[in-house]
Amino acid sequence: MEARAREIADRLRSAPSVTVVAHIDADGISGGAIASEALARAGIRHDVTFVKKLDEAVLAEIKRQGPPLAWFVDLGAGLLHAMHGIDAVITDHHVPTEREVPKALRGDLVRFADSADRVLMLNPHLDGEGSDVASGAGCAYAVAKALDPANVDLAAIAIVGAVGDVQDQEFRRLGGYNRTIVADGVRAGVLQASVDLRLFGRETRPVHKMLQYATDPWIPRLSGNEEACVAFLLELGLDLKIDDHWRSWSDLDRGEKQRVVSALVAHMLERGCGARETDRLIGEVYTLLKEPVGSPTRDAKEFGTLINACGRYDAAEIAYRVCRGDREEPFAEALRLLRGHREYLVGSMDTIEEAGIQEMDALQYFHAGDKIRDTVVGIAASMALNKNGAMKDLPIFAFANADDGIKVSARTTRDLVAKGLDLAAIMQAASKAVGGTGGGHHAAAGATIPPGQEQAFLEIANRMVREQLGRSGPK
Ligand code: C5P
Ligand code: ZN
Repeated sequence: MEARAREIADRLRSAPSVTVVAHIDADGISGGAIASEALARAGIRHDVTFVKKLDEAVLAEIKRQGPPLAWFVDLGAGLLHAMHGIDAVITDHHVPTEREVPKALRGDLVRFADSADRVLMLNPHLDGEGSDVASGAGCAYAVAKALDPANVDLAAIAIVGAVGDVQDQEFRRLGGYNRTIVADGVRAGVLQASVDLRLFGRETRPVHKMLQYATDPWIPRLSGNEEACVAFLLELGLDLKIDDHWRSWSDLDRGEKQRVVSALVAHMLERGCGARETDRLIGEVYTLLKEPVGSPTRDAKEFGTLINACGRYDAAEIAYRVCRGDREEPFAEALRLLRGHREYLVGSMDTIEEAGIQEMDALQYFHAGDKIRDTVVGIAASMALNKNGAMKDLPIFAFANADDGIKVSARTTRDLVAKGLDLAAIMQAASKAVGGTGGGHHAAAGATIPPGQEQAFLEIANRMVREQLGRSGPK
């Protein structure tokens, strides 16, 4: 990976100017910020643009503009077969299209998208690794480090990208090349990795709120119940407030944290949670040491959420400024967007209630029409799955209108994935069958399909869920 990063760095150094093209999610935006910061430090002229997705049309437009060199961050791999006629470097962790990467070229130090050496790609898949060993931001970081070893301070933002892409979720800690980045960040004094309660909101949420909103794991009797959370903590003798300030998890001392964690573990086990669920309370968490205590930019997961909130509402540039270190107006605007996002989600829950969740024998679904943005419908689906309204033993499929067709987001529980459910395969096959495209991960996948194809899509998806779970069809 480092050898490939050096090749790409050389290419960047010799370019008269570079156009960075990055994805609009937390990983893409933080990766774009890393690319731009590294280029700026190296004195390489460049501009940065963010795109919602890279399809043939977007790529054609970039080719038409004809930048001396394009640097794709957190996207590009999926269009490797269409990269002819452009000078480009790609730092991406998505599955690359196979067509133009002959087996013979795999294992080489440098990989080419086609026979001409105009496209260089750094991607863990080329080493037979999965998507989770490095993020798009992490791959961009590898190049930044190759441009200048002093760029290791950018490790902090690279970890925000990885966590924003939930790469720590499955194993409750980052793995693969991400560990090198963590080690770099620790050595550079910008990052701390520690084993701690891994619920969301360690820096900014009052402790009882952090418990109340816990979904991974779901804590019986506490999740969704503010009063019970307050009572639980008071019973442990915890001071929830100092003067007018609600204490966050980061305000607690070691002893207090240990008391709460022990009590939570006992609470979950006593209420019948298995060790696997209970274990999910604890994991590795990542703190950006140069950021102020109590700021959402201090915790990697909260930082990632802040950036994602901007990306979802067409404000990737705002988040990008924050990633580059701006703590003035863009930061204030990002905080406003995050608050707006939370309100939007509350409204989305009402929308789902009105639309109603329909059931087929192997799945459940709702259609949000124009009422929920295509960039948010996936989260809305996750939230619906976590609420009592939706059945947890059925995967949920959500539809929303988008510019380019109907957006579909599918979500399921870890339980059903363990039983054999693979939503990525379903989204890919079912969308393809109706003239769309899709993919993603086992537990969270997405697709875009032509309008009017929803029912046909659902029939196929329903049958596939049934097959994957080894269930027989309806009588
Ligand atoms: O958009 P959503 O949050 O539902 O996406 C979930 C996952 O599905 C993401 O990993 C995304 O990259 C993937 N996806 C995809 N093809 C699409 C839409 C989403 O592979 N057309
Ligand atoms: Zn990514």
